Amino acid sequence: MQSIIDSPRAALAVGAAIAAAVLVVWLVAAGADGLALTAYLVRLVHVLAAMVWIGLIVFVNFVQLVALGSADEAQRAFLHKAIVPSVAWWFRHASTVAVVTGVLLLLLSGYLLPALIYGTGVFMPAARVLLLWGGVIVALAMWMFVHMYIWPNMQVVLGMRAGDDLAKAAARGRVILFARLNLLLALPVVLAMVAAAHLF
Ligand code: HEM
Repeated sequence: MQSIIDSPRAALAVGAAIAAAVLVVWLVAAGADGLALTAYLVRLVHVLAAMVWIGLIVFVNFVQLVALGSADEAQRAFLHKAIVPSVAWWFRHASTVAVVTGVLLLLLSGYLLPALIYGTGVFMPAARVLLLWGGVIVALAMWMFVHMYIWPNMQVVLGMRAGDDLAKAAARGRVILFARLNLLLALPVVLAMVAAAHLF
């Protein structure tokens, strides 16, 4: 097995194996029905993806953009090669996993089509429903910003799409604007979703 010192993937895999072992022991001891277990696992992946997405929003706004802003041409070229593409990869895919698992959670938590999943309606206080759907709409806008503005403009900045110096400067401005909007909206979304899940 690859050493956890040499490989972040190996470290993550060992962590996942420990977590899975704890989960199995807990399931055997306490028991859980299939639907509750599925909802739990989807919720787990949703929260993990949201953690990565929001973590990278903080990293991009407070670390990466600051470093790029103060870098000279050679340093910027290095950052564009060594750091920015991987950050963009994790950012895009974490946001998509958060949205896909979010849609599944809408079904598994009884917000959408409860009769289909549970065979009956599910009572929800109006405040919980309002908070959750408000959070969902804003989160979908954040996801759209990532895929329709941040990533396409980032590709121009990185030279993966054609663009002269003027186009690159404009694209850089749009990346910053939409990264800031993601930062601005991150806390309201987390607040609304955690409140929907735990406050009522
Ligand atoms: C910025 C993006 C998002 C973040 C940071 C986020 C974060 C969270 C967090 C932290 C929870 C609480 C989990 C718990 O404590 O049990 C949650 C729950 C939930 N999220 Fe999200 N989420 C995001 C996007 C979405 C999207 C796009 C959807 C739907 C399409 C969605 C649907 C849900 C649902 C249905 C719940 C369960 C609420 C409940 O149990 O009442 N989320 N989310």
